[in-house]
Amino acid sequence: MASPNLAKLAYQTLQQGKSLAGLAHKGLSTKLMEFVAPGALPKTKPVTTALMSELRKSMSALERQDWRDAEKGIYPKTQLFDDPWLDWASRYPLVWLDLPATWKRRISRKVRDLPNRIDQTVFPDYYLQNFHHQTDGYLSDHSAELYDIQVEILFNGTADSMRRRVLAPLKRGLDKFNERTPASLKVLDIATGTGRTLKQIQGAFPEIELLGIDLSSAYLREAGRSLNKRGNGLAQLVRGNAEHLPFKNQSMQAVTCVYLLHELPSKARQNVLSECLRVLEPGGILVLADSIQMSDSPQFKIVMENFQKAFHEPYYKSYVFDNIEERLKESGFEDITGESHFMTRVWSAFKPLV
Ligand SMILES: C[S@@+](CC[C@H](N)C(=O)[O-])C[C@H]1O[C@@H](n2cnc3c(N)ncnc32)[C@H](O)[C@@H]1O
Repeated sequence: MASPNLAKLAYQTLQQGKSLAGLAHKGLSTKLMEFVAPGALPKTKPVTTALMSELRKSMSALERQDWRDAEKGIYPKTQLFDDPWLDWASRYPLVWLDLPATWKRRISRKVRDLPNRIDQTVFPDYYLQNFHHQTDGYLSDHSAELYDIQVEILFNGTADSMRRRVLAPLKRGLDKFNERTPASLKVLDIATGTGRTLKQIQGAFPEIELLGIDLSSAYLREAGRSLNKRGNGLAQLVRGNAEHLPFKNQSMQAVTCVYLLHELPSKARQNVLSECLRVLEPGGILVLADSIQMSDSPQFKIVMENFQKAFHEPYYKSYVFDNIEERLKESGFEDITGESHFMTRVWSAFKPLV
């Protein structure tokens, strides 16, 4: 790695570049939508100059925190530059080619437009939808190929920095087991999707055993491609429902779950938290990351409302008003803390030592 100052400058420049690229993409695609599919334009509220300035401040704070945690050695600095550029560049044209289908779905309000060949009986009903108007929902390789780029664009290049906020609490939790060898510890990432969080955990804790679970085989295939490369430890990827985890009681020392809760109906949200408690060993940690909520970030109310208007997110409204800390407490967790980083809220909670 270059000298610390140069590396910091390179990181800041990279983040600014990603932010500009995200804004440019959104600006251009909105212009195109106005022209060819005006009916698909969401009725969002304008973002005022004051709100824009709040957003910029919050984004810079995230960037500073991301750098500080790398400096502290919570994860290697190389992780800050770990974007699969060639892959993304080759897939980016597909994002554009996919837009007309997305607009059509938005106009016709078709939210259950899924591939015919899937066996719908193996999925919960709430899952069988086109979340974010995504083509094929989560149920095709095409959707899995585009997902990471679409999320980076949505968050103006901050998605990975926000996901990385689970690593400091995770380290604090794993440190409680430091009398054991790292290889004997297990971390489970729930709703791992294309595996971005697992990849970050793999980089920060290379010797720990990693497991990921998700309902989508296509997303897990994508995760396998990026995680199980030569030189990396193997991550075990399992297709299954987070409401009924196929793992033994008390078999994990830590569980993470990133950007799942807002896509679940209230009952399923509670089931997932109960399952997290069940599979954790007493003393183990759960680290959750999801959208900010109305109670912790009222200054970003319009952003949350606009998100819900622009994308098909059927459970987001109930999520942003949900009391996750209360749910964690009711599930049996203790030492619950929460912190917000730009558009993401991170909670950590421990399973009591009996
Ligand atoms: C918004 S994505 C988040 C993926 C990943 N954690 C990330 O940070 O990008 C939501 C993921 O949750 C998965 N999912 C939704 N409901 C699920 C359930 N009940 N059990 C397991 N996975 C589920 C989806 O297949 C999808 O991969």
